[in-house]
Amino acid sequence: MSAPKVWVVTGVAGFIGSNLLQELLALGQTVVGVDNFSTGHRANLDEVLAGPLETGARFRMVEGDIRDLDTCRTACEGADYVLHHAALGSVPWSVDDPLRTNAVNVDGFINMLVAAKDARVKRFVYASSSAVYGDTPEYPQIEDRLGRPLSPYAASKTTNETYALAFQMSYGLQSIGLRYFNVFGRRQDPAGAYAAVIPRWIATLLRGERCRIFGDGETTRDFCYIANVLQANLLAATVGNANATGQAYNVASAESVTLNQLFHMMRDRLALDDPRFSFAAPQYDPFRQGDIRFSSASIEKARTMLSFSPTHNVAQGLAEALDWYVARARASGGRSVAATVRHSTSVGANTHSREHRTGAPLPLAAS
Ligand SMILES: NC(=O)c1ccc[n+]([C@@H]2O[C@H](COP(=O)([O-])OP(=O)(O)OC[C@H]3O[C@@H](n4cnc5c(N)ncnc54)[C@H](O)[C@@H]3O)[C@@H](O)[C@H]2O)c1
Repeated sequence: MSAPKVWVVTGVAGFIGSNLLQELLALGQTVVGVDNFSTGHRANLDEVLAGPLETGARFRMVEGDIRDLDTCRTACEGADYVLHHAALGSVPWSVDDPLRTNAVNVDGFINMLVAAKDARVKRFVYASSSAVYGDTPEYPQIEDRLGRPLSPYAASKTTNETYALAFQMSYGLQSIGLRYFNVFGRRQDPAGAYAAVIPRWIATLLRGERCRIFGDGETTRDFCYIANVLQANLLAATVGNANATGQAYNVASAESVTLNQLFHMMRDRLALDDPRFSFAAPQYDPFRQGDIRFSSASIEKARTMLSFSPTHNVAQGLAEALDWYVARARASGGRSVAATVRHSTSVGANTHSREHRTGAPLPLAAS
């Protein structure tokens, strides 16, 4: 705050990008945002910029596509740091159309590297993904033990890490990759590409329907609250130790939560407002082929090299974000809590069959 800088945030209209924007503006920084609104939303920017006029004055938007080098150059001119988050994050999309994912996630990534290098930015921080671990049977996942990539999306993120390092070696552009595990928090798109199990379940509970769990509920995930992601970005951009650059780090809570535990946490939080929620029960369906059984990250490397120290575990993140999720679910058609709870307590075969007809499968795989 004592020495404000200029930060480029690509993917600024998305979930993580808009939270980065909010955090940086609150810290008195100047932000240049880049987005083509392909999966991001103008409403996310409106929500952040609704604050004091002075804050908005420190934000400039470059609406455009990172596949266009000139757009990237325009954004990076005069910038100190780049936080590169624009990407197509959907694993199924990448399987359907690998060329498009490659064009955005790899060609667009290299455009940003070139623009950042030519603008002589101090550091290039970028979103990688736990998807780079692919089919590794080892867990907790440790940075240097990668499996085989299971999708074109995973390949694109692995390629990002290789190119970032190559640019550091060839041109001295310092970079740090952040391998996010299932991130959750305000402005998470429930219809988005990622493991949107939290917004989906909250909306399901509010509608008075049963949350579907595939398997016995003992499947684990490492859910990471957005505040921890913001911290990791700021540390990665500003860490003084040059040896910390040219590397990728897990960004997670390092807290392995079973789906049963997650369901109970959510149900119990909702029950604080209306005790009848405590009667809600999940619906168990057969295991799905391809779902990873256990996912958890070691964050020792980030702790040691970046002084990363998560401020929120899953329960604390849920407590902070629940109101936002509930408001969003209601705004998009959720029923009142009272009506919901009446229905929740009497879920039966009808609900079950409706879910089977219309319910989209619960996406659990981290991306
Ligand atoms: N959310 C997670 O749990 C998670 C997990 C692992 C990795 N990541 C990575 O973090 C980053 C941000 O993810 P998110 O959850 O905020 O996703 P998001 O879809 O909400 O945000 C991505 C943003 O990038 C923009 N974008 C896409 N293609 C673009 C292009 N060609 N030009 C300009 N802008 C473009 C989109 O419009 C969107 O605003 C992505 O790189 C993603 O792969 C996210």
